Amino acid sequence: MKVTVIGTGYVGLVTGATLADLGNTVVCLDILEEKIQMLNNGKSPIFEPGLEPLLQKGIKNKKLIGSTEIEQNIVKSDITFICVGTPSKKDGNIDLSYIKSASSSIGRALRDKDGKHTVVVKSTVVPLTTEEVVMPNILKKSGWKRDRLGIGMNPEFLREGSAIADAQNPDRIVIGFADDIAKETLKKLYENYNCKKLECSPRTAELIKYASNSFLAAKISFVNEIANMSNVWGIDFKEVAEGMGLDSRISPEFLRAGAGFGGSCFPKDVKALAAAAKKSKVESLMLKSTLEVNNIQPKIIVEMAEERLGVVKGKRIAILGLAFKPDTDDVRESRSEIVVNELLEKGADLIAHDPEGMENFKKNVDVKMAPSPELATKKADCVIIMTEWDAYKKMNLEKMLENMNGNVLIDGRRTLDSNEVEKIGFDYKTIGLG
Ligand code: UGA
Repeated sequence: MKVTVIGTGYVGLVTGATLADLGNTVVCLDILEEKIQMLNNGKSPIFEPGLEPLLQKGIKNKKLIGSTEIEQNIVKSDITFICVGTPSKKDGNIDLSYIKSASSSIGRALRDKDGKHTVVVKSTVVPLTTEEVVMPNILKKSGWKRDRLGIGMNPEFLREGSAIADAQNPDRIVIGFADDIAKETLKKLYENYNCKKLECSPRTAELIKYASNSFLAAKISFVNEIANMSNVWGIDFKEVAEGMGLDSRISPEFLRAGAGFGGSCFPKDVKALAAAAKKSKVESLMLKSTLEVNNIQPKIIVEMAEERLGVVKGKRIAILGLAFKPDTDDVRESRSEIVVNELLEKGADLIAHDPEGMENFKKNVDVKMAPSPELATKKADCVIIMTEWDAYKKMNLEKMLENMNGNVLIDGRRTLDSNEVEKIGFDYKTIGLG
């Protein structure tokens, strides 16, 4: 199939690369010339394990190319995926401006096209957006009658850091369609996938995506609350999580307590769903509490540092981990940013490290950086681990303690083995270990 993908962010690049790998001819479209140039030179504009080789393979096989000529390429394709960003507005509502401009471009392109065309929204959008914003806009701008246009909504469930594996082996594919053109096109596109496929309306597909992300975020906030209770009752939450996870209805996934959830999806999506529900006069107490608990977790880390150090003013504190989770350079809504800002405000002498996220973090916060965890922790009174990178699990802890000024180690992600670090001589504190 001839596929065009608008937006070369996370979802767009991974969708383009995996569809090209399946034998489709894919053109990835973006208005940003430099991103397209990078892509055509075989360089991934984002850090994601396995993405660059897949892009290179697609380019080499002439199955994948990037272009800024949006409308010209849409006309030549059978199906267009909208994969643009849907950021939060200040009030938490979803910002649909990129969705609107993408659908306008598609509409303008279709003026010059004969036959059928399918447009599929892959971006995360609140229910009714595909049917009430995207479709009318395309029809208006193209002058097309409804019967030639396929309209679909096909949410993406990939995680940063394991995006390629998630896209190639999904748990499920949700095929939302408003007509038979989109239904048949999407079924054909995904015919070689063996996973469960759910067919539904576009608005159902939109809510499945929000409900899935919000449920996982709520699960994290729930376990964080229970872990905070475990802290004061002398209970190891890891054992509690293990016990809970043995119930197949609960599952052992997403029971890791710690500094809370970050990233470009959970915080934004929970806010957007709550705001959309409110607009429709449904007040969501669950979503509100999910966000409230998530805001408390980084503050608990700061309190742990204050409790251990007395005052943090003037104290040398090393922050290990700036990315919102390991294996990504993404620092959006990272819990580290909250911890770093609070500690800087309180006058701590901070130095930070992250294997991939330092450059991005520097754009938001002015904090000293060290090129290695060893240099970051040298002469530190306290070390705080905020992202569970493998590199931090492999650190030589004896040597680290020798070179430190103090012995306080706060683990915001339960990265290390508490017994081991305490044996070495650290004063260790983590969330969910009383
Ligand atoms: C999330 C979803 O997991 C994907 O299914 C979805 O497609 C994606 O959002 C999206 O909407 O695009 P992602 O944000 O990449 O994926 O990251 P996750 O692995 O889900 O982690 C999110 C945050 O939750 C991280 O900060 C992580 O540290 C935290 N987390 C995760 C916990 O605190 N505890 C856990 O048990 C699991």
